[in-house]
Amino acid sequence: MTDVQQNGAQQASAEQTSARPVLVVDFGAQYAQLIARRVREASVYSEIVPFSVTAAEIREKNPLGIVLSGGPSSVYAEGAPAFDAEIFDLGVPVLGICYGFQVMATALGGEVAHTGAREYGSTPVNVTDAGNVLLAGQPHDQTVWMSHGDSVSQAPEGFSVLASTVSTPVAAFANDERRLYGVQWHPEVKHSEHGQQVLENFLHRAAGIPADWNSGNVITEQVERIRAQVGTGKVICGLSGGVDSAVAAAIVHKAVGDQLVCVFVDHGLLRQDERRQVEEDYVKATGVRLVTVDAREQFLDALAGVSDPEQKRKIIGREFIRTFENAAEALVLEAKAEGGEMIKFLVQGTLYPDVVESGGGSGTANIKSHHNVGGLPEDLQFDLVEPLRTLFKDEVRAIGTELGLPREIVGRQPFPGPGLGIRIVGEVNWERLELLREADAIVRAELTAAGLDDEIWQCPVVLLADVRSVGVQGDGRTYGHPIVLRPVSSEDAMTADWTRLPYDLLAKISNRITNEVDGVNRVVLDVTSKPPGTIEWE
Ligand code: XMP
Repeated sequence: MTDVQQNGAQQASAEQTSARPVLVVDFGAQYAQLIARRVREASVYSEIVPFSVTAAEIREKNPLGIVLSGGPSSVYAEGAPAFDAEIFDLGVPVLGICYGFQVMATALGGEVAHTGAREYGSTPVNVTDAGNVLLAGQPHDQTVWMSHGDSVSQAPEGFSVLASTVSTPVAAFANDERRLYGVQWHPEVKHSEHGQQVLENFLHRAAGIPADWNSGNVITEQVERIRAQVGTGKVICGLSGGVDSAVAAAIVHKAVGDQLVCVFVDHGLLRQDERRQVEEDYVKATGVRLVTVDAREQFLDALAGVSDPEQKRKIIGREFIRTFENAAEALVLEAKAEGGEMIKFLVQGTLYPDVVESGGGSGTANIKSHHNVGGLPEDLQFDLVEPLRTLFKDEVRAIGTELGLPREIVGRQPFPGPGLGIRIVGEVNWERLELLREADAIVRAELTAAGLDDEIWQCPVVLLADVRSVGVQGDGRTYGHPIVLRPVSSEDAMTADWTRLPYDLLAKISNRITNEVDGVNRVVLDVTSKPPGTIEWE
């Protein structure tokens, strides 16, 4: 991401909430988002800014605190991210983590040495000063997660050393008077036993920030913001059946009621019961006006004879845009004929990770579906309403629950825009879709019954329609298709590990699928992590 893009992300997010943030400075490693989430878990609002941020920009944002993230570089490496050291003089409490800890040490006159003793992974640490506010209440000996080559060899003047490891004499330090703190380890990672407490000590005790940011006040704030943006204008929202669009639409509906109309495209690639849940349960819970477009035949016709994954994705994306466009156009014409307000706004369920990763957005756009393709004709431009732009996925779920949405929708696993179309390896047809829907419903029911919904990120169920194997079922020989189970654990879908499901559960799922789903005589388990394997098969 370029600096320009990052600044865009920064500005875009700053427009969204009036809460004074804790700023997480991103030094380019993958940790900044995780830190931002952990800060929010401590009920404090956080935003991510690039390392190129200046003291003047920080002052303008008026943050309650600053956390410097880890980073991939050595502070001595050529091209190491430079940081505006004036930020330490702003009087804002700062916590430096890993690379951020070393940046702080060098900027303030301490020393960082190339010791050659690399620490990586779970490492025992010795807390020598549990009296200091940062490590207050922490056990003397504990295990933390480390990932560094260089080490702070001398703390800056005025700082006291709070902890050490066998090879790192200065593993944490503090200057209470200036409210500057640092740890060499990664408190945001779950492998650091008391990591969250370190963050909370910094936020609540050292920086004195109250724990008062929660889903209730996010809703109130967004409702006000949406009303101010939309006025008496009309708003359209495409519901996919997934969590993000469902929650985004529900907040907008709470803000502007019947000025909102939702469009749900049934492309025939949905899972069992999804259409009913949207049309009945969701509508009952929210009271939104919903238009369903039944486009099952159109999609199946367009997909006939196609087995190449990329081509399938393209076709589904294209048909989706076409369908949504037509529905939007019809609603625009209807609004025109009624002589009332025009539809001027489009709701999108954009989340904070998308904002950070894509460098923000302009706030005006042609329709971009969740397939991220296509656009509307020039005369059908909408301003975007994006009430989830500052939120992480788990926060979106909490807000959905608070808004009274059905559990089945709020707790739903991520589901790809192209739906079951990319979970059938081979050509897509109605018979195969029905078969996969049955198998998928069994898997979902059993995982829920086993209480594993929170542990599993998602579990694609894949039909290998191009593969057949010999089996024996009842009295006869069969030549059926395999079903693949792909349960994965993940924090963000960028990386994932296969979930170790209990054998008894796997046995039950396998028995049920082979007994109940006609045409399937084998169930196999995908034991590949990501990378190298993606989560979806296509
Ligand atoms: P992969 O298969 O790339 O998937 O490991 C990562 C995450 O993205 C989801 N996914 C999609 N979501 N449209 C979406 O909205 C898509 O085209 C799409 N393809 C994959 C996938 O389910 C996983 O959560």
